[in-house]
Amino acid sequence: MKKLVIISASPKSSNDPSVSMYLARMARNRLSSLESEIINVRQALQNSVLAFETMKSADALLIIFPLYFYCLPGMLMRFLEDYAGFIGGNGNLQKVYAIVNCGFPDPEINNEAISVVKSFARHIGAEFGSGISIDSGGILLSAKDTPFVKKAIKTINEALDTIPANQPSGGVFAINVNFPKRLYFLAGNFGWRQAAKKNGLNKRELYKKPYQSNGSVR
Ligand SMILES: Cc1cc2nc3c(=O)[nH]c(=O)nc-3n(C[C@H](O)[C@H](O)[C@H](O)COP(=O)(O)O)c2cc1C
Repeated sequence: MKKLVIISASPKSSNDPSVSMYLARMARNRLSSLESEIINVRQALQNSVLAFETMKSADALLIIFPLYFYCLPGMLMRFLEDYAGFIGGNGNLQKVYAIVNCGFPDPEINNEAISVVKSFARHIGAEFGSGISIDSGGILLSAKDTPFVKKAIKTINEALDTIPANQPSGGVFAINVNFPKRLYFLAGNFGWRQAAKKNGLNKRELYKKPYQSNGSVR
């Protein structure tokens, strides 16, 4: 394998740091023996054909995304479906890899999303290489220097090393950050309250149900 295209697919705006882009840069550094390029899906949507040409020229794709409602973000689904249409059975891809990170502290919940990437690989006539499934995504950026995150990063890097080695796998490396759960939820709740404040809302208003007829807070 010579050329790898890394697809970073967080729907967040490029001004917001995303775990997916952080992992994409980490993968590019770790896999420096390969020629690689990062495509940010949100930006690529402006000119998908250019992105698709780049992807088509690669020996492998590494698709990195957050779990959204137990699946791929809609933006990425659209992008991959359009790519499958673009190559129309004429792809020369050898391998498709995936890295998915979710918010909850359980990497198992990413499995369904990885199956969707496997199905995508089948549809474009490629082989699924392997998946890296990471839990507690938010903590990877906000608690980088803790021993829990450092250990997880080490394991992610070891899993990445199997890519250029072209090891036959088809499996999933499940990476549990193992951050203390109570602390994790405390930090998560604090984050939601801060986001509410930034948007001029109070804590109570976080429980609003805007799509219900009365939309009130109980
Ligand atoms: C709209 C939306 C849906 C989400 N759905 C899930 C989910 O189903 N399960 C989960 O564990 N995390 C879910 N998350 C959390 C993200 O997967 C998590 O925060 C991830 O680390 C974000 O990665 P990013 O920075 O690359 O976007 C969701 C987040 C958003 C914004």
